[in-house]
Amino acid sequence: MTRLAVTPVTPGFVAEIGGVDLSRTPDPETVAAIVAAMDRHAVCYYRPGRAMPDDAHLALGKALGPIDPTPVFKITGRKKTRISAELQDVANIDENDNVMAEGSRVILFRRGDRLWHCDMSFHPNRAVYSLLSAHEIPPEGGDTEFCDLRAAYDALPAATKARIEGLVAVHSIWYSRDAAGFPAPTEEELESRPPSYHKLAQVHPGSKRKTLYLASHASHIEGWPIDEGRALLKELKEFATQGRFVYRHQWRLGDIVIWDNRCTMHRGTPYEDTRYRRDMRRATTREMAASA
Ligand code: OGA
Ligand code: MN
Repeated sequence: MTRLAVTPVTPGFVAEIGGVDLSRTPDPETVAAIVAAMDRHAVCYYRPGRAMPDDAHLALGKALGPIDPTPVFKITGRKKTRISAELQDVANIDENDNVMAEGSRVILFRRGDRLWHCDMSFHPNRAVYSLLSAHEIPPEGGDTEFCDLRAAYDALPAATKARIEGLVAVHSIWYSRDAAGFPAPTEEELESRPPSYHKLAQVHPGSKRKTLYLASHASHIEGWPIDEGRALLKELKEFATQGRFVYRHQWRLGDIVIWDNRCTMHRGTPYEDTRYRRDMRRATTREMAASA
C-alpha cells in the first residue's frame, strides 16, 4: 500500500499531503497518518488536480470524524438544495446554478467569512476539521488565509498568558455577521442559534500544545464589561494574525484544504462575487460533546 506523503510547506503549520488516492475512502492507517499530519501542521492540502465528487469528499470527511448534518443556523429565504445537506455549501451559486445577485441575503452572509474566524465556534459542539473542496475558482481573488493560533499563543508575553488563563469568550454567529455588515437577523435566524461559550486559552487535544481559541464570532468575555472584553479580543486577534503567523492559500481546481478549527483561524479574501463563479464545498467534522 502507498504511504501518505507529507511535504511541509511552512514550518510546523502547513503541509501538502499526497501519495495516496484520497478519493477512495482511506484505510485506518492512512486516517491515522492524516490525523498525525494535522496535529503537527494544523493545515494540510491535497492537490489531485480535479474536483473530488461529493460522495468521496463526504466519505473522506467521515473517515476523519463525525459529521452532523443537522442545520446549525437558519438563513431566512435560503434554499439549500444544490448539494448534499451533509456538506456546507459555501459557493456564491444559487439553486438554479446562477451566480447570486448583489443584496442576496446569502451573499451578504457569506461575506462574513472574510473576517478571521474558525468554523462553528458559535456552537457548543465545535467544528474540528473543515475539508474545503474547490469545484470552481474565480480567475482572480478568492484566496483563503490561515493563521496559526498555537504559534501565536507560544509567542504571547507571559503576562498576557497569565491574564487570559481561565477566561471564557461568548461566541455568536449574529455578532460576527453584524460585524461584517449583514442586516439585523430575523427572529427566525436569531432563535435558530443562541450564543456559545469557549475558553480563550485551551490545550489543543491532538497535540497537547497550548492554543488561543479565537474567532470573529467571539463577542465579549463572560463576566467582563462588554467593551473591555472586546478590546482584549481585538488585541489578541491583531497579535495572532500578524504576517509571521499567516499562510495564504492560492486555490487550484480540485484542491482540498483541511484545517483544524481548534487551533487556527481562516478568512476568505475578496473576489468579484456577483460576477465570477466560486464553487466551494465543505465537509466539517464535529466534537461529540460540548466544549467549554
Ligand atoms: C469556510 C470559509 C472561506 C473561503 O468554508 O469555512 O470560511 O475562502 N471559507 O471560502
Ligand atoms: Mn469558515
